[in-house]
Amino acid sequence: MMTPLVDARGIVKRYGPTTALADGRLTVLPGESHALVGRNGAGKSTLVNILTGLQAADEGEVRFDGEPAPPLADRDAWRRKVACVYQKPTVVPELTVAENLFINRQPLQRGFISWRKLRTEAAELLATWDVHVDPEVRTADLKVEDRQMVEIARALSFGARFIILDEPTAQLDKREIERLFTRMRALQDSGVTFLFISHHLQEVYEVCQTVTVLRDARWITTAPVAELPRRALVEAMAGESLEAIAEQAVDPRDVDHDAPVLLEARGLTSPAYENIDLTVRRGEVVGLAGISGSGKVELAESFAGLHTPTGGTAQLGGERLPFGDVQAALEAGVACVPRDRHDQGLVAGMTIGDNATMSVLDRLGRFGFVRTERKRGFATALIERLDIHTEGPEQPVSDLSGGNAQKVVMARALASDPRLLVLINPTAGVDVRSKESLLARVDSAREDGIAVLVVSDELDDLRRCDRVLVLFHGRVVAEHPAGWRDHELIASIEGVDNHG
Ligand SMILES: Nc1ncnc2c1ncn2[C@@H]1O[C@H](COP(=O)(O)OP(=O)(O)OP(=O)(O)O)[C@@H](O)[C@H]1O
Ligand SMILES: [Mg+2]
Repeated sequence: MMTPLVDARGIVKRYGPTTALADGRLTVLPGESHALVGRNGAGKSTLVNILTGLQAADEGEVRFDGEPAPPLADRDAWRRKVACVYQKPTVVPELTVAENLFINRQPLQRGFISWRKLRTEAAELLATWDVHVDPEVRTADLKVEDRQMVEIARALSFGARFIILDEPTAQLDKREIERLFTRMRALQDSGVTFLFISHHLQEVYEVCQTVTVLRDARWITTAPVAELPRRALVEAMAGESLEAIAEQAVDPRDVDHDAPVLLEARGLTSPAYENIDLTVRRGEVVGLAGISGSGKVELAESFAGLHTPTGGTAQLGGERLPFGDVQAALEAGVACVPRDRHDQGLVAGMTIGDNATMSVLDRLGRFGFVRTERKRGFATALIERLDIHTEGPEQPVSDLSGGNAQKVVMARALASDPRLLVLINPTAGVDVRSKESLLARVDSAREDGIAVLVVSDELDDLRRCDRVLVLFHGRVVAEHPAGWRDHELIASIEGVDNHG
């Protein structure tokens, strides 16, 4: 038998009262792309922390190529074995690509950094791995897909041939994902091994040969993807049958086409979009779709004060909506699940309960005199309704797994009792099973008469909408009432069926 490139056995990892891994196992063979899947909080990222030497396991053993893993303190030795590309950048945004590639190991000329040499070496490195990025650009200005490729090239330059991708596709659109997969296949052909984490199971089938399932901190199975059909995979992840899962799904309700218009935008213009007219009725859910750069995110952000239109007006419930001011938008009744939950979403030092109830303090009692019990009860109810995997409302949000943090952001948006709910990629990073409970919350928001705008790259999110507007180069090019076929919507998103 081939010596595994990575072999982790009996991994146990505890964080205080939480057992993040009770029996973690992973065996990755050289040259394969291996998927790691499981529900939010199953222990995937914890296993990644241990495989990259960021954290020590409490028990268990990790081997690379048959050899025991290096000591935790020897960062250089770890860097030669493995690297992880996260959703969040690990490059320094203010530095150029070249500087990031050679940070702390700049080529020296008589003791000084040689900038010319730095640029040439960076360009050579990028060319070796076929990464088409200008080494002189600031990494902050890179698109997510290019930033990821720079991080991969950097890892390869340290000698690592095992690359972990922790939800790399969560922020990419369809074309970008295809390009990432093409690159992965090419790198795989030149001997790179991948561990690929994603909640999009079709991607697992598209790009991986083997899959390992974790559930409730334990290894469940490892199998060739060809031998584990989607149904069996979902059941292994959820620990229950598909029928049981389907029973819990809720049927969307019909819209009331005579409901009064709540949001009305006229002639909205910004550098990202042009002359947009948009109305959303009470209890109506409107989807915004489009490729990256279509303006859909900026349009939605405009109503929440996160992007400022240069022209046009918006009214919410007959009152003029202020632009460019998040607090004012909130006070006017707009709640938002923002694009970047790390930067805009949560207060890391605060508990889950405090984060979830932050904007409803006024309703629960006067600020500063909030009855702790009431708040606790309120937060506990939200945790339950949104299926948040946690020890309880007193836990800091920074302890939460990615998907569970996303649910807290959603909980908070709902708790502010908004008139307009703006959701930007609300199910990004959320597992297949939790998506249902999250989308069910959208349905009850609609029943409460809230107007909802959903920006998403996921057809499953858009399917729940009463209608979907498609943007292309900053203009609305199509409108699809509920009931569209996948290929119709995809064609108009891609701009295949229009003249934009
Ligand atoms: N630093 C920490 N302190 C306390 N608990 C933690 C910490 N990091 C992770 N956990 C807990 O460990 C469990 C596993 O988390 P992990 O991040 O590994 O999940 P995951 O499988 O990556 O989930 P997701 O799909 O949501 O990213 C969760 O219950 C999480 O709350
Ligand atoms: Mg994770």
